Amino acid sequence: MRIESAELRSKVMPAEAAARLIESGTAVGMSGFTGSGYPKAVPLALAAHIEAEHAAGRGFKVRMWTGASTGPELDGALAKADGIEFRLPYNSDPIARERINKGEMNYFDMHLSQVAPMAWQGFLGPLDTAVIEVAGIRADGSLIPSSSVGNNKTWLDRASKVILEVNSWQNEALEGMHDIYYGTALPPARVPIPLVKPDDRIGEPYLKVDPAKVVAVVETDRPDRNAPFSPPDEKAKAIAGHILEFLSHEVKLGRLPSALLPIQSGVGNIANAVLTGLVDAPFDSLTSYTEVIQDGMLDLLDSGKLRMASATAFSLSPEAAARVNADMHRYRDKMILRPQEISNHPELIRRLGCIAMNGLIEADIYGAVNSTHVMGSRIQNGIGGSGDFARNAYISIFMTPSTAKGGKISAIVPQASHVDHINQDVQVIVTEQGLADLRGLSPKERAQVIIANCAHPDYRPLLEDYYARALKGSYGLQSPSLPGEALSWHQRFIETGSMLP
Ligand code: COA
Repeated sequence: MRIESAELRSKVMPAEAAARLIESGTAVGMSGFTGSGYPKAVPLALAAHIEAEHAAGRGFKVRMWTGASTGPELDGALAKADGIEFRLPYNSDPIARERINKGEMNYFDMHLSQVAPMAWQGFLGPLDTAVIEVAGIRADGSLIPSSSVGNNKTWLDRASKVILEVNSWQNEALEGMHDIYYGTALPPARVPIPLVKPDDRIGEPYLKVDPAKVVAVVETDRPDRNAPFSPPDEKAKAIAGHILEFLSHEVKLGRLPSALLPIQSGVGNIANAVLTGLVDAPFDSLTSYTEVIQDGMLDLLDSGKLRMASATAFSLSPEAAARVNADMHRYRDKMILRPQEISNHPELIRRLGCIAMNGLIEADIYGAVNSTHVMGSRIQNGIGGSGDFARNAYISIFMTPSTAKGGKISAIVPQASHVDHINQDVQVIVTEQGLADLRGLSPKERAQVIIANCAHPDYRPLLEDYYARALKGSYGLQSPSLPGEALSWHQRFIETGSMLP
């Protein structure tokens, strides 16, 4: 039985009835991180209710907070119903993205480590309802977290009322995998977080909730959105190869131990390819302190190369999810899921010395990175945890194919059209063309290495030409630039559909 507490069992009701307890105009904190552990039944019922209200000529929208991205039953359904007035902290749903980019939904794209502290500080306003998916409710009312932790602890603590979604699709053997730290506090009461190794357990395996605040319990068995990974293409393999060669070189020089340092791996296919490449690399006893456990990490765990993985969520393909679910008892001892304020905590990332590897949209010749805005204005996903890790990592690596949209866009540009990561937070840039190690280089040295090693041959001469003219015509020569021309590639793409002249 998934609901052992008699008190909470008495609150079981259909999703439709639970959704009616959510009021228009209020903030709702839902569970969910990268397609796992998000509530499925209540948001779908809420979307249906919102559609009915709109059809009856009544306005109905909520302010939606989560851990990070969720799934089609949550972001997709609510965005389709035009039911989200405001969204934080991360979105990758295509329907919600379209609404944001059409100016129909307000979106506060923020560092994922900062969501919980900001909610506690009261900066985000009051939280009316928490809707949290759990794998089970114990007799004492404590909650077995599901496939993500995200901000669940904070939503359960802060919300005036709580709706629990008990999902029997989630594996019962998840129990014991989580580490929920209850020792965070706001300044001046804040104390150091006592985690010094990625496999330290500093909290407890269960979430707590005040049963008096629970207004509904809903049962469901819907699966997580487990998106397939495409097998690494030639470019992803080349990028992974450059990174592995770089890491081997660092070990040879004695700048990294042979077990490396805890690995953080960003979202997407390239990150997954790097993890897969590590299976055959000459490193052993690896650890990972990251945001999500992806397919490549399972391969590493199975090969024995990865000793353990700490994260806040699973982000698996359907095949990998089935693999984990079939063997959860074994995997459980090698994985820890934590609240995202701990998995992404700058203090811990700096202390552990993580090797951060994240994707980018574009980088400029000085190494400033845009992770979020296409042509400077159209949001793709959000900064997610990339800022938490990039600034605080031991080595911060950004990776991308050198072109996008069939070669019509260069990922290396004269000036980034939006900056998420300033050049001081970007130490290594990698494309399929090569790797630029920017540590210890001045802006002018960085420009030469980035253009030579990372730019696509179709764009390299254009960048060389721009840089040569900037050296002659720039107002200053610390970071030479021609402001009237620096964003002209983006303007050309908007006007002609290609950055190429
Ligand atoms: N201009 C226009 N579009 C671009 C682009 C550019 N310079 N670079 C990438 N894109 C588009 C791709 O064409 C693709 O679009 P599509 O889905 O319509 O085909 C999309 O962005 C994703 O790019 P892809 O090459 O598949 O790489 P990815 O899956 O590795 O994603 C980011 C790259 C930057 C979008 C992704 O890493 C991201 O959202 N990063 C920010 C959050 C983050 O780093 N999280 C991890 C922290 S722990």
